[in-house]
Amino acid sequence: MINYQSDLFGITPDMLSHFCVGWSCPLSGEEMKHVLEHSYRFILSLDTKKNRVAGFVNSLSDGVHFAFIPMLEVLPEYQNQGIGTELLTKLLAELKDIPCIDLTCDAEMQPYYARFGMFKSHGMVFRKYLSPEQIKFYRNRT
Ligand SMILES: CC(C)(COP(=O)(O)OP(=O)(O)OC[C@H]1O[C@@H](n2cnc3c(N)ncnc32)[C@H](O)[C@@H]1OP(=O)(O)O)[C@@H](O)C(=O)NCCC(=O)NCCS
Repeated sequence: MINYQSDLFGITPDMLSHFCVGWSCPLSGEEMKHVLEHSYRFILSLDTKKNRVAGFVNSLSDGVHFAFIPMLEVLPEYQNQGIGTELLTKLLAELKDIPCIDLTCDAEMQPYYARFGMFKSHGMVFRKYLSPEQIKFYRNRT
């Protein structure tokens, strides 16, 4: 059974150490805990049978006008079961009074976020872990 919680009660760094799948520099469990502790709001999905964190979403915010959703991730074995949808729905409910909610994502993910009423925009980013060659590639991309 999947439960949802918006606190870190019963959550150890070890339970958060399997995220950032495919990242060149995945965050450790300790770093993940720090991220959540310093987030404005976050939601975790917990597999109560296995006592595993199956997914999470977090937001950063000034609490008045702007919020940013930096991470949404469901572990591969739990994907396509509606967990991501539930996480984002619950987070957006928590952010209901914030008028500007932003996130960045790859183009292929845009239809997913459009389901929640979000629309395409433009943005600029720093990604300090990229190599000079990768930065050149992204700069030349239209
Ligand atoms: C994206 C993600 C959070 C979705 O969570 P989930 O629990 O698997 O998603 P849900 O079960 O709520 O929804 C499944 C739907 O999302 C679609 N979807 C999932 N990943 C997708 C992707 N990378 N691109 C486009 N659509 C995707 C599925 O095709 C499915 O569509 P359907 O309802 O038409 O069948 C999850 O796949 C994930 O963690 N991916 C890796 C991390 C990531 O890309 N995070 C988003 C960063 S912007």
